[in-house]
Amino acid sequence: MYYRKIIIIILFCIIQGCSNNHTTFHEDIKPIIHRNCAICHNPKGAGPFDLIIYQDVYKRGQMIKEVITKKYMPPWPADPNYRSFLNQKNLTDNEIKKIVAWIDDGKTEGIANNNNIIDSILVKKNESQPDLIIKMKNAQIITDDNQDKFLMMKFPFELESDTFIKTINFVPNNKQFVHHINAHLITYNNNQNKNIFKGDYIVDTELFSDEECFEILDLRNNDGSYPTLTPSVSNYLPGSEQINYPEGIGGLEANKKNIILVNDFHYGPSSSLETDSSYFEIYFSQEAPKRKIQETQLGTFGISDIVPPLIIKANQVKKFRTKATITKDISLLTINPHMHLLGKSFLAYAITLQNDTIPLIKIDNWNFRWQYFYTFEKMLKIPAGSEIIVDATYDNTPNNPDNPFYPPKTISERIGFNGRGSMRTSDEMLQFIINYLPYKQGDENISLNTQ
Ligand code: HEC
Repeated sequence: MYYRKIIIIILFCIIQGCSNNHTTFHEDIKPIIHRNCAICHNPKGAGPFDLIIYQDVYKRGQMIKEVITKKYMPPWPADPNYRSFLNQKNLTDNEIKKIVAWIDDGKTEGIANNNNIIDSILVKKNESQPDLIIKMKNAQIITDDNQDKFLMMKFPFELESDTFIKTINFVPNNKQFVHHINAHLITYNNNQNKNIFKGDYIVDTELFSDEECFEILDLRNNDGSYPTLTPSVSNYLPGSEQINYPEGIGGLEANKKNIILVNDFHYGPSSSLETDSSYFEIYFSQEAPKRKIQETQLGTFGISDIVPPLIIKANQVKKFRTKATITKDISLLTINPHMHLLGKSFLAYAITLQNDTIPLIKIDNWNFRWQYFYTFEKMLKIPAGSEIIVDATYDNTPNNPDNPFYPPKTISERIGFNGRGSMRTSDEMLQFIINYLPYKQGDENISLNTQ
């Protein structure tokens, strides 16, 4: 009688997995949640609620189980098996299994410890003091019409003398609504004596072409020519961490009169009236930049044509290719795939003259919301003569839940925009931005992880 009971208990244990009982929040689950979730799910982050302490995770157990098994969270569209990147937010299959088993087994708390990775992540961000802070002229009002907003903004700043800049860091204020930004640096020749504070500071890019936006913000030189523009000096998406390249890489030159131009400031839809006072921090440098980062792009506005031309007929799923030959050895640092709402998948790789494939990025489920600038773990050499190939698929059927039109309409690259593309989400783009340096011996061994 007695031993029968024991056998039943043992069988029960085998089926239910008694061994999971010693998985606890503090020992096993907290480090995973802090590393992959709390960076956004904290009181100042983009996530709608906190995921930091035991109670936060305890009360949302079922929801967490669902979002991690469906791979909806953490948001990281790139396939980590194809190419892994710096600071990637991604749960391994084992981590997912571990969290799910812990939830199913009753969410044991365990003994509290001081292993709070999130503390060091949040503190690290405030460690150094910037040399200069550049704020918006006025706080930006986000209206309550539930619409996305696409703006161009200028942040002018005047210096006493020409200066070297180490980094420009964007600090989002209203993190729930700042969807993403992409900023360039404009430097004016001192002999132009340009009034950088003249003109509007903000313009709606859905209403005007790029040229018109430049006029409204009064960005051109006094003589009508265009000033020097360094692209992508700062990019932000929720969860993206500022990249500090190793000593000797990157850096900028500023003159006396400069403008940080956010060519693309996207606020997400809001149903309440909100304000935002995001700003930039500038860190100066004593030294002239030794290896300046270069940027180029394939596809829309870029060095290579899209084949066939980017026209996606209504109710069509269609693949497009754009490719470019690399003429000199280069070292890739950061890449950014870009499409709008009809994007379905994105694949980029290089083929060398020896026919070797260098995987760059693979996104099987395109997500308009999460368009990171992906930084490689180490500099990646692409030898001269290689071809960079990008294959992008678009879904313009009603099956695409992000399709802005029902019934679908034919969408192309540059509808009604003076022959230029636009950030309007109802127009499409196919762009692959690469940030690189001319290759130097040994680059492939340089880690970009300076944390
Ligand atoms: C890069 C920022 C970021 C990271 C990292 C992140 N989240 Fe989120 N999370 C969000 C945002 C923003 C939302 C709001 C919904 C949206 O925008 O998709 C959200 C929503 C959620 C939701 C609610 C989903 C719903 O249907 O309402 C859950 C649950 C969640 N996250 C859990 C997690 C977990 C668990 C992790 C880590 C394994 C994680 N998140 C990592 C930003 C993030």
